[in-house]
Amino acid sequence: MPSFTTLSRALLGLPLLAGTVLTTAVPGKLQPRHYSNHTNSSNVGPIKPKVFIINLFSPESAVFYNIPEFNVLEHNITVPGFSPKFPDAHCTSNGEICQLVTGEGEINAAATISSLVLDKTFDLTTTYFLIAGIAGVNPEVATTGSVLFARFEVQVALQYEFDIRDIGSNFSTGYIPYGVKVPGEYPTAIYGTEVFEVNDALRSLAIAFAKRAHLNDSTTAQEYRAKYAFTAATTGPSVVACDGATSDVYYSGPILSSAFANFTSLITNGTGTYCSTAQEDSAILESLLRAAKARLVDFSRIIVMRAASNFDRPPPSISAYDHFFYRTSGGFLPSLMNLYLAGREIVGGILGQWEGAFAKGIPPTNYIGDIFGSLGGVPDFG
Ligand SMILES: *[C@@H]1O[C@H](CO)[C@@H](O)[C@H](O)[C@H]1NC(C)=O
Ligand SMILES: *[C@@H]1O[C@H](CO)[C@@H](O)[C@H](O)[C@H]1NC(C)=O
Ligand SMILES: *[C@@H]1O[C@H](CO)[C@@H](O)[C@H](O)[C@H]1NC(C)=O
Ligand SMILES: *[C@@H]1O[C@H](CO)[C@@H](O)[C@H](O)[C@H]1NC(C)=O
Ligand SMILES: *[C@@H]1O[C@H](CO)[C@@H](O)[C@H](O)[C@H]1NC(C)=O
Repeated sequence: MPSFTTLSRALLGLPLLAGTVLTTAVPGKLQPRHYSNHTNSSNVGPIKPKVFIINLFSPESAVFYNIPEFNVLEHNITVPGFSPKFPDAHCTSNGEICQLVTGEGEINAAATISSLVLDKTFDLTTTYFLIAGIAGVNPEVATTGSVLFARFEVQVALQYEFDIRDIGSNFSTGYIPYGVKVPGEYPTAIYGTEVFEVNDALRSLAIAFAKRAHLNDSTTAQEYRAKYAFTAATTGPSVVACDGATSDVYYSGPILSSAFANFTSLITNGTGTYCSTAQEDSAILESLLRAAKARLVDFSRIIVMRAASNFDRPPPSISAYDHFFYRTSGGFLPSLMNLYLAGREIVGGILGQWEGAFAKGIPPTNYIGDIFGSLGGVPDFG
């Protein structure tokens, strides 16, 4: 992987975010817990963050450290149940902005977020969660370096799978939804994590904030994206509203991409647009959904942001294998940079309009929650 020393963090910043005193009076039964001994403050009440940045692996967290806008390394809080590799949550000294790293994949993501929401160190009832990670991207919809905001998150590989060589070439894919016998039929066995929908009104505000950023790009990325046949791929980085796919399997190639695009459409009744691909977001959303049901978090305060680091399939004339292992799409560093560039606008936007807008919440006008309707309401995706 490229070195992070090439990332310039001395970017022009927002004005430093205005600090307020950490809230200590919290209704309910939250037990105060002292910060770990890394800290030098006398805080005893729960930390009540306004924004919690959720990263998945180290490169994504690195871009939020040593920046001029805020310093989440002022307080380290060791949280039981976090990843052995990333045992601490990190917060600004006033507790307004926090950040963690889940570790990669669905299991790490679910375990870390479930541990977070149950930890009495935090009061997360009014916290905005900003998932900030890099991702693969569907070249029909967007390009490398783009910052993508999901309304739907689909667990695309939650299906039966045959190796295509074992079931015959008359099948278009070896993935078959649960409970049925052919690809493309709506599943009859539902686990509950197939699809989540988040607050679209909040997503629109996040997109507006992110569009203030001047996104980064690289000449390598420009050269590689020019090879694709889709306009969305060959145009430079932008901020895009399009949906997310979660799979533990790190897949690549046109056939799986097509299969998972079809599943996204199927499970959202044609409403979702298969766009970003990553390994954690459905897991994070399930943990947050259960916490919302227990009134520990507010499910209308979640932003699913992914910056595109690579394409989910090769351009014409390059094999899937060659594309995946031997070509450099050039999107890795710009995508990391853009997580920060867009992320700081969103954090600054939320804190800047806290009293007037974000404190009381952004009321959703769409259905939010899971496929079961666990938080109330009826899913609008079938
Ligand atoms: C918090 O942890 C980071 C490393 O993860 C370290 O650089 C920083 O100094 C720590 N902060 C405090 C206040 O100890
Ligand atoms: C593929 O062919 C097999 C054997 O003829 C048949 O049983 C199966 O239903 C076919 N599958 C599809 C998706 O058409
Ligand atoms: C992207 O960021 C790199 C590293 O800071 C910088 O050298 C480059 O000029 C930036 N490119 C654009 C298009 O902003
Ligand atoms: C996706 O759906 C289209 C349209 O029904 C179909 O032609 C294509 O074969 C499907 N892709 C896969 C991989 O099954
Ligand atoms: C699914 O979409 C179809 C076509 O747009 C529509 O007629 C139907 O009512 C939708 N079903 C649900 C449950 O949303």
